[in-house]
Amino acid sequence: MERVIIFDTTLRDGEQAPGATLNLDEKLQIAHQLEKLGVDVIEAGFPIASPGDFESVRLIAKEVREPIICALAHANPDAVDRAWESIKEAKRGRVHVFLSSSDIHLTHQLRMGRGEILELAATMVARAKGYIEDVEFSPMDATRTSPEFIYQILKATIDAGATTVNIPDTVGYTTPEEFSRLIRGIFDNVPNIDKAVVSVHCHDDLGLAVANSVAALACGARQVECTINGIGERAGNASMEEIVMALRTRKDFFNLTTNIDTTQIYKTSRLVSELTGFSVPPNKAVVGANAFRHESGIHQDGILKEPTTYEIMDARTVGLPSSALVLGKHSGRHALKARLEQLGYTLSKEELNRAFSDFKELADKKKEVTDRDLESLVAEEMRTVSETYHLDQVQVSCGDRSVPTASVRLIDPEGNVVADAALGTGPVDAIYKAINRIVGVPNVLTEFSVKSITEGIDAIGEVTIRIESEGKVYTGRGAATDIIVASAKAYMNALNRLLAVKGKK
Ligand code: KIV
Ligand code: ZN
Repeated sequence: MERVIIFDTTLRDGEQAPGATLNLDEKLQIAHQLEKLGVDVIEAGFPIASPGDFESVRLIAKEVREPIICALAHANPDAVDRAWESIKEAKRGRVHVFLSSSDIHLTHQLRMGRGEILELAATMVARAKGYIEDVEFSPMDATRTSPEFIYQILKATIDAGATTVNIPDTVGYTTPEEFSRLIRGIFDNVPNIDKAVVSVHCHDDLGLAVANSVAALACGARQVECTINGIGERAGNASMEEIVMALRTRKDFFNLTTNIDTTQIYKTSRLVSELTGFSVPPNKAVVGANAFRHESGIHQDGILKEPTTYEIMDARTVGLPSSALVLGKHSGRHALKARLEQLGYTLSKEELNRAFSDFKELADKKKEVTDRDLESLVAEEMRTVSETYHLDQVQVSCGDRSVPTASVRLIDPEGNVVADAALGTGPVDAIYKAINRIVGVPNVLTEFSVKSITEGIDAIGEVTIRIESEGKVYTGRGAATDIIVASAKAYMNALNRLLAVKGKK
């Protein structure tokens, strides 16, 4: 079986999703997890875009040694130089140069002719090649470009030294059949195509990103660009877990393999969802909460008799935690540690102590503590690591005949206890106003959602919010058995992210 190169762009295109901004530490955590997952290439960022982007690519290149670390550059000498600077410490690095090729972009955005584009693309690839052997080129908006011009630009950039040529469906416009035709056309019409790997990069505006990607792989493309949970610009990118599991489950059809350790998929998905604040819909293929659940009686009957009757994948192959083992208030530290390790979390002694005390508190409120509760507990622990203000206490009084009133107590950056109170239109509004009186950073709440992590009246409620300040969106999450407390935690989480960015400025 031939192997497909998995090029992960969660940290670059994925992070371009509005509201998905990640800090340096979070990007590093994701990069390390992507390495465990076994991706071949990590596109770590767009270094010319900001000093923060440059620094995160540089750090990932220095610390994450197994995959190729790729830096993106538009066709501009400074951008190419900066991309190279950011990855020069990588064990294996790549510079990825892109330039628009469609007439729509050439006429309205770049105001350049095709001749100029050909020359610029080749010059910038040659510039990158002067620094490093591994160079990728992408003609942006390829699927709305005349195929003949794609053939020309690919020939010119391969001659200039590109070792991978990537065909982006930048606006998610193509269809599987049309994209297959384009890929076949490239193999038939680009004379030097044997000197480069053909890659594809599909967006999901019409919900066809994964279908288009696997169609291209069936026609000979051997690198696929994708993101965890399909996050990305607008409707997102092709979802990695879906592509990998499609290739694996239907190897009889594709006859292709990847280097991915599929048992790491679920954990990676949770981590990305947690850090970006982008929830995974329950019906999402492969990693959604319902992806392996069977509701109808006929299906349940079939599954009990023989799982393959209604299951095409085994949940264990994607690392889905089984909910069979349930911990309770009599479970000890050892049982908790063992279960967390099975779920893929290795905690330090101090972290385990804190997690154990949170676990005991939770077990007192809930009869059974499931794997999902434990994941939420660890996520909550992770959130408090880089706080500026810490939520120490929150109290609310509300009801249909009273004015909602909240009092909050925070620990400020110097370790002082600060308290305040406020009235609001509802309990959450009152809490947010009380917190605002202390923290004093103007922002607007743009999104607020609550979901329960497990079933039952005693389930943990998870609140996700987005706030906007000075044109930037910050996501916050909080979890607790009391959704009012979870709301307060979510707001503190978003505010702490905002303060971290402001602190850097
Ligand atoms: O969608 C796109 O065209 C891109 C390029 C930079 C490859 O993300
Ligand atoms: Zn893209």
